[in-house]
Amino acid sequence: MAKILVNKSGPLHGEVKISGAKNSVLPLLAATIMTEDSCVIEDVPNLADVSVMKQILKKYGAEIDDSEKGVIKTQTKEIVSCEGDKDLVQEMRASIFTMGPLLARHGKVIMPMPGGCTIGKRPIDLHLKGFRALGAKVTEDIENETVTVEVGPSGLIGDVIYLDFPSVGATENILMAASMAKGTTIIENAAKEPEIIDLANQLNKMGAKIKSAGTDMIRIEGVEKLSGCVHEAIPDRIETGTFLLAAAITRGDILIKNAIPGHVRPIIAKLRECNVGIEATPEGIYVDARDRELIATDIKTLPYPGLPTDIQSPFMAFLTTVKGSSVVRETVFENRFMHVVELNRMGADIQTENREARVPGGKKLHGAKVRATDLRAGAAMVIAGLVADGTTEISEIYHIERGYEDLVNKLKSLGADIMKTDRD
Ligand code: EPZ
Repeated sequence: MAKILVNKSGPLHGEVKISGAKNSVLPLLAATIMTEDSCVIEDVPNLADVSVMKQILKKYGAEIDDSEKGVIKTQTKEIVSCEGDKDLVQEMRASIFTMGPLLARHGKVIMPMPGGCTIGKRPIDLHLKGFRALGAKVTEDIENETVTVEVGPSGLIGDVIYLDFPSVGATENILMAASMAKGTTIIENAAKEPEIIDLANQLNKMGAKIKSAGTDMIRIEGVEKLSGCVHEAIPDRIETGTFLLAAAITRGDILIKNAIPGHVRPIIAKLRECNVGIEATPEGIYVDARDRELIATDIKTLPYPGLPTDIQSPFMAFLTTVKGSSVVRETVFENRFMHVVELNRMGADIQTENREARVPGGKKLHGAKVRATDLRAGAAMVIAGLVADGTTEISEIYHIERGYEDLVNKLKSLGADIMKTDRD
């Protein structure tokens, strides 16, 4: 079983380039099946999740050319199947982002219910609420754990849809379905993440008429057809945050190229509260934690523009090592503290109660055998390993490879003592 071995490393130094955003590329790819024309998506990271999405689109009828690094050319002349693959859905929840596109293009989708995962139940009730509001018929087959969504004879009809929670996925699915509905759709309490804006920009390039994506009220005028496009994904704000924290925890200084400071404002704000030096540069973000007395601060995750839940576990790893205690509150997912057990194996001494974790701080962590319990928790283990005495051995690293392109080599290029091994 492959593992990542991390030895105590000195301060990181140098520069690193951020890859295209996983959570943008996945919906961008899903949207390409809405047109029979060819589409090109650029700055696509080489990730396991992207490979799964390519497999899914091929099953629907997409012809994909990924011969050029970082570029996916795809064309779906016709939809040959509208049925999601159970194994692929279980492997990657983001498969459900193909529901809106299939409804818009094909009028029907049969999707295995995505299971929950380590961070929570992750229902799709808000996605289905949106499809029903657009006039589709939703049939849930509990026994076979699938949901069938079918457009009626008059097609999708625009409506006002209120999201009880500003769900990223539900906003994206409804945005895509509504793009080809008749009339106007308003999504109220919509998610405002940068990935929503990126998707709206691509859809508008394809001929959609979407206004005010990125606010909590998105207005969509449906159109008959969409055409092809060429679109470059935004850089990954969570990878950006992860490198900010890697520099901070090792008291190093790095230049993070291709990062967009405006997408990581809350992470920058909280790290500045910890006395980490951070400034925007023409190339991205320069972070400097050298020769500074870093101090703890409390963090609370919230939907954008709050502190992203995906940075919570790497941020907690950082907080275990700075002077002073802190409280970490997770408000987005109901079970996103699985990494606490693993950090405690390294001497973090964190206590949790419901959605709150108390981090004593000021700890000298020691290496241990730990697991990556989810994608971001895996990154947290790597960050903690950079400053832990001895060697930290991280297993179940497939989680990490789902969402971080070439993390080991990127950290190695900054001076980290890290390697991947296939030895048991
Ligand atoms: C997206 O997941 C991201 N994934 C997640 O990143 C991210 O953590 C999450 O948004 C929140 O920012 C992708 O974009 C591929 P949600 P998504 O719907 O869309 C509840 C990573 O590490 N909810 O905003 O699934 C849900 O249970 C991943 O890259 C409902 O109740 O997240 C959760 O508590 C992890 N009903 C909350 O909303 C619904 O119908 C936020 O979920 C949908 C969601």
